[in-house]
Amino acid sequence: MPEKKILIIDADVASRNFIARNLLDQKYEVIQAGSGKEGLISAWRDRPDLAVIDPTITDITGEELARKLKQDARTANMPLIALSSDPSVLRIKTCTDAGFSEYITKSGQAVSTLNESVYRLLGASGAPAKQGGLLMVFLSAKGGTGTSSICANIAMNIGQNQPEARVVVVDLVLPIGSIAPIVGYTGTQNIVTVTDMTLLETSPEFFRDKLAELKLWHFNLLAGSPDPESSTHLKAGRIGEVISALKASYDYVLIDIGRSLSRITLPLIQNADINTLIVSTDASTVSLSKTILDYMKNKGVNMNSVFAILNRAVGLEGLSKAETEKALEIPIKITVPYLSSNMAFANSHHQPFILKFPKDTASIVFQEAAKEMTTLARALRAE
Ligand SMILES: Nc1ncnc2c1ncn2[C@@H]1O[C@H](COP(=O)(O)OP(=O)(O)OP(=O)(O)O)[C@@H](O)[C@H]1O
Ligand SMILES: [Mg+2]
Repeated sequence: MPEKKILIIDADVASRNFIARNLLDQKYEVIQAGSGKEGLISAWRDRPDLAVIDPTITDITGEELARKLKQDARTANMPLIALSSDPSVLRIKTCTDAGFSEYITKSGQAVSTLNESVYRLLGASGAPAKQGGLLMVFLSAKGGTGTSSICANIAMNIGQNQPEARVVVVDLVLPIGSIAPIVGYTGTQNIVTVTDMTLLETSPEFFRDKLAELKLWHFNLLAGSPDPESSTHLKAGRIGEVISALKASYDYVLIDIGRSLSRITLPLIQNADINTLIVSTDASTVSLSKTILDYMKNKGVNMNSVFAILNRAVGLEGLSKAETEKALEIPIKITVPYLSSNMAFANSHHQPFILKFPKDTASIVFQEAAKEMTTLARALRAE
């Protein structure tokens, strides 16, 4: 993925260099301008993805500059961050009115606030992919293969294994999510209501403090669409930004996309640290899973990031592990045994499997899967 380009407009050389160094450290490409006019020309010529502007520049005011950029089609959608030496409330208002998305006052915390804003504004596809919390996507080629149950239970085990870590589960299965009914969440907040909020409202702090906290499950939840009608109102274009904000405030972001591999979810798969593919043992699911894998490979997904789980959700019949591996041409990392009605039983009681059936083999399997996945994700990050 090409590096994102950030334009810094600031008359103060020292300040400009300081910001530039900080952004370069985070693998952004940086261009600099020492005056408003120079900045305007650079913005139109170099097409940066974002601009950091000190509005106290004097040849053109920051407000005037922002209005010009917003009125021009080439730069109308470029987010503007004011990094200002003027802390006055009036200035904040005139800048926001002129089109700045954020106003940061130059102070001790300015750099970390700036980094957070840049990361959030550039979105998932924009921000360097491997930054922030570890992203684990759960997908399957067919419905009913146990994706949601496994996603919730692995998240629970990650949270339990690492009490200091912050874990969030996001349900992106359309048209109806099923993590909420599994974990027993009945609140009204969900992916549809959250994507309907503004970029400023859905900050990393918002997600850190305002998502449902499921004590028994050791994770926070961003529930899925509650019904098909709601899903038609989903602002899909905001999903990347929401995931970026979540990655900024959680150590692990697990997303259930079920079999909804689409234009909306593909960028998540491409940016995921781990793609957990749940495969059931019937021949048709295995064959569809191979198709999905080939597609992912084609779209540049690192096959080492694929964590295949064989789930005997349909019963004891079907392909063996070896046969499945041969058909998929990738190793199966974990096999979940057939659990008869126990999985459904734990789900209907909104309880993690390991709490309901601590002695069952599957409880050990979920534990192991959680450990292996976190180890793999960290190893891939370090590459
Ligand atoms: N290993 C297993 N043994 C027995 N039953 C299982 C197993 N795994 C999942 N199930 C059951 O299969 C059903 C489907 O599981 P789940 O909802 O997790 O699948 P899904 O792939 O998310 O389905 P959907 O397509 O509806 O999103 C549930 O009733 C669940 O309890
Ligand atoms: Mg599901």
